[in-house]
Amino acid sequence: MDGPANSPRTIILLGPPGAGKGTQAKKLVERYGLVQLSTGDLLRAAVKAGTDAGRAADKVMKEGGLVSDEIVIAIVNDRLDAPDVAAGVIFDGFPRTTAQASALDDLLVRKGIALHAAILLEVDDAAMVERISGRFTCAACGEGYHDSFKPLQTPGVCDACGGMEFARRADDTAETVAGRLQAYHAETAPLVAHYDAQGALARVDAMGDIKRITSDLIDVMEATRAPA
Ligand code: AP5
Repeated sequence: MDGPANSPRTIILLGPPGAGKGTQAKKLVERYGLVQLSTGDLLRAAVKAGTDAGRAADKVMKEGGLVSDEIVIAIVNDRLDAPDVAAGVIFDGFPRTTAQASALDDLLVRKGIALHAAILLEVDDAAMVERISGRFTCAACGEGYHDSFKPLQTPGVCDACGGMEFARRADDTAETVAGRLQAYHAETAPLVAHYDAQGALARVDAMGDIKRITSDLIDVMEATRAPA
């Protein structure tokens, strides 16, 4: 779990849909200046752009399944070639299968990037449906909110940018969430053992207060610093 003292950190956030990967990744980006690499966001951008990969991903995402390893690994490979990743990366929603985890191991070695920690956000499935069904984001700046857990301070106005348009994700329905949770337990949960075997796994209790969870994640981040 260590690396050179001043090297940019590479972190994986593991956890089911609604665990708070996106919410917490943004906090760590603000604090550490890392790049958030969310395969969900990259796939949604590909769908919007109407690329071949986006067209293939669209139907699968609407059904709550997993997009093919081939498409996702190619997207991540391309993204890791961009110069900004030199600042360090937080993987959010990747890897999600053992094939993706093996591909990432190889990619990191090839690109000379060290993995500092894979952090599992531990949550109860039952709470995830409620979290996901209340979620919305600012259409202008992407700031995330929740009807009950993180409401707007002024109704109808984004706290972060003052935007007044908001969006809800097409796959945030009760039926789709059930499929996404099922895919998580079948395909992604086995990655906990993969990273445990590498000595890279850390666990954070991700039920409860968002600020407390961020603070626990910062403790893990600080523990990944190698002694000077
Ligand atoms: P993706 O976009 O990655 O979605 P996900 O993993 O299902 O995760 P979510 O974004 O739903 O949840 P999150 O953990 O980020 O939680 P958030 O912080 O938003 O993937 C979407 C789809 O793309 C997949 O289903 C798949 O089809 C495809 N895909 C993506 N990556 C892929 C890959 N690698 N391989 C194959 N297919 C892939 O929080 C949720 C809500 O809860 C928010 O409203 C937030 O405000 C609130 N909240 C957060 N923390 C708390 C808390 N502590 N208490 C109360 N509320 C909280």
